[in-house]
Amino acid sequence: MNAQTKRIVERIETLGKISNETECLSRFFGTTAHKEAREVIKTWMEEEGLEAEIDTIGNVRGVLYSEASNAKHLVVGSHYDTVFQAGKYDGPLGILLGLEMVHIVQKNDIKLPFHFNVVAFTDEEGGRFNTTYLGSSVLAGNFNSKWLDCRDDNDKTMQEVIEEMGGHCKSINKDKIPQKDWLAYFEIHIEQGPVLCKEDLPVCVVNTIAAQTRIEMKWLGKSGHAGTSPMDMRKDAFCAAAEFALAVETLGQEHSDKLVATVGKVNVKPNTSNVIPGYVYCTLDIRSQDDYILEKAVEALHKAAELIAEKRALTLNWKIVQTNPSVVCDENITRLLKESVDGSNVERCLEIPSGAGHDGVMISRVAPVSMLFVRCEEGISHHPKEYAAPMDIAAALEVCRHFIFKLNDFYKKN
Ligand code: HGY
Ligand code: MN
Ligand code: MN
Repeated sequence: MNAQTKRIVERIETLGKISNETECLSRFFGTTAHKEAREVIKTWMEEEGLEAEIDTIGNVRGVLYSEASNAKHLVVGSHYDTVFQAGKYDGPLGILLGLEMVHIVQKNDIKLPFHFNVVAFTDEEGGRFNTTYLGSSVLAGNFNSKWLDCRDDNDKTMQEVIEEMGGHCKSINKDKIPQKDWLAYFEIHIEQGPVLCKEDLPVCVVNTIAAQTRIEMKWLGKSGHAGTSPMDMRKDAFCAAAEFALAVETLGQEHSDKLVATVGKVNVKPNTSNVIPGYVYCTLDIRSQDDYILEKAVEALHKAAELIAEKRALTLNWKIVQTNPSVVCDENITRLLKESVDGSNVERCLEIPSGAGHDGVMISRVAPVSMLFVRCEEGISHHPKEYAAPMDIAAALEVCRHFIFKLNDFYKKN
């Protein structure tokens, strides 16, 4: 294992231990572990000679400034927040490979024609507020101030969390890179799926990223005594949400080649065994590579939810928290990336779509994006068993090494 790969593996372990939970890895936005992790990343950035700072929302941004007068910003990044019971590689791997790219630039004394940024995005998963891409939306100048009113499970608003972190919500958008100053964005990420294992390849290139809509529902029924309330007189919010969840599963199964849909989070109140649930909060995460199919599926499920609420005499609050269109990765930069894969003695260069969302989705609104996937064992992700083998990390590093030289040449000429 070469020294750079070894350093990545060691740093993955270091970040993997920074958690708000003792039994598993969980690093939600604005938590103690989240704040601890960003300081560690900032130090690593500074050790590589980057000018590093933590912005209002908690992105850690390190810059190697170019001497070229009209230099624009090339950003390599990924996120350092996690889901609950997370794996160690989802997010950090992309940040750490970005840092190794800086190391290669420094070691070879390459005078880049662009400012080279490594960014650790503060919240891509949306685990706390169900709002994905918070950090990248700030860097892209797309932060929606309505999100500040989103509340977590303890009823705390995002605004309160940002202010507790020392941020001033009014100045959030000053942290953006203006669209005219963007050059390109590159993200390396574990595949989080089975294709690279099946094809027995260490890496591949991403061609598109799925469209994704995140919805929050509140089902308002009536709590009651589980022993004395006749079955035909109930307004059971959990049964309504459960009926909806089965409708989601059925739609997903009927269109499984085009759609995935998940009811992943359910909060039941009063959540007591002998009380009929009067209130349920639940989420819907629905995705497709085809924007039109996604739009129609959301409409159909909204209608189904309303019919269920009406039939059961409940009130339904349906809120689209975020919707992000599908993304096509940039052809030019992806061509350079494919050449870098070919130059890295990878048997063949595969191109696949991403079903997972990534910060590149938000950045694609202001800059051309490209992505490299790294094999993860059995495609497992969002799970403690998530694992990327050092030899696959080394293969990705080799691609990144070729890639930075190609980007340097390409942007020196163009
Ligand atoms: O959910 C996703 O696709 C990503 O892991 N945030
Ligand atoms: Mn993830
Ligand atoms: Mn991720």
